[in-house]
Amino acid sequence: MDRIAIVGLGLIGRGWAIVFARAGHAVRTFDVDPAALERGLAAIDASLHDLDDLGLLDEPAAAIRARIGPAGSLAEAVGDADYVQESVAETLAAKHEIFAALDGLAPRQAVLASSTSTIPASAFSEGLAGRDRCLVAHPANPVHLIPVVELVPAPWTDAAVVERTRVLLEAAGQSPVVVRKEIQGFILNRLQAALMSEAINLWEGGYASADDIDRTVRDGLGLRWSFMGPLETFDLAAPGGVVESGARYGPPFAQIVASQAANAWSPATMTGLAAERETGQPRALLGERARWRDRRLMQLLAHKRAAAAREAARETR
Ligand SMILES: NC(=O)c1ccc[n+]([C@@H]2O[C@H](COP(=O)([O-])OP(=O)(O)OC[C@H]3O[C@@H](n4cnc5c(N)ncnc54)[C@H](O)[C@@H]3O)[C@@H](O)[C@H]2O)c1
Repeated sequence: MDRIAIVGLGLIGRGWAIVFARAGHAVRTFDVDPAALERGLAAIDASLHDLDDLGLLDEPAAAIRARIGPAGSLAEAVGDADYVQESVAETLAAKHEIFAALDGLAPRQAVLASSTSTIPASAFSEGLAGRDRCLVAHPANPVHLIPVVELVPAPWTDAAVVERTRVLLEAAGQSPVVVRKEIQGFILNRLQAALMSEAINLWEGGYASADDIDRTVRDGLGLRWSFMGPLETFDLAAPGGVVESGARYGPPFAQIVASQAANAWSPATMTGLAAERETGQPRALLGERARWRDRRLMQLLAHKRAAAAREAARETR
């Protein structure tokens, strides 16, 4: 068991608290806003209840919840931590300030990880005495339902810190990906941005309705992508594997990519898209829709776990 500190108990911090407590660790949570701390703990209760409902917990929800405690100060949260997961606001100034404080307050051997989606660790850790124990551990939302976590070290991050984080997260049921060099958007958001930009281009160009574009992913590409990635998909796209797929589909794909402009995300396009989506999905129901999304993710996780267990049992037979 490790002592984990969660700093910032918003949308992301609360998911991390569940991940670590579910894995048996002692979790201290801190938020500068006491009301946010309360809200975060209440949201953790609701998520644990839903996870329990779908049989996704290995022990009673109350036993997991008992490992999560609030801290009255940052010093109390991180003073004896082995691992700190920072999830405060996404600005360089906020990351600078919190990492300077964490580097002063956390024990020297503690790992300091940031949930940042866009800011490389080199931008907020350079001047710190303990910069070698800082890295990005970028999760997806909701953290406790989508296991991927991108580990992105700065050039000076100790390789042993990356490895310790990888082992900790993997043992906690997450799926850590090591990004070997810093790059804007890391991997997840580079892939996501490319798809999102083209989806909006197609909608803007009048090629299909928003729902039909979404359907192409949810009833098409996404079905495969929930258990194999695009590169493995490409390997299976021709009898001769990726080399033959490249020969067959590379030239037309290169032409398509050359014809794709980066979308400008104009406010007018966003307003138009919102209006079309509003007809099928009233804005007032967004909160309910997020809860529905989480329950669907839980069912998908349950299915993936059961399918992996069946496969493993077949292999050992
Ligand atoms: N929301 C997402 O989809 C998502 C996905 C992956 C990563 N992230 C990253 O996770 C981080 C948190 O995002 P979020 O969506 O949870 O934001 P959020 O606004 O929901 O939560 C941030 C919380 O941090 C608290 N906070 C601010 N300054 C603090 C400080 N100095 N000390 C302690 N608490 C402080 C706030 O009171 C708030 O409760 C960001 O860096 C974001 O980029 C977000």
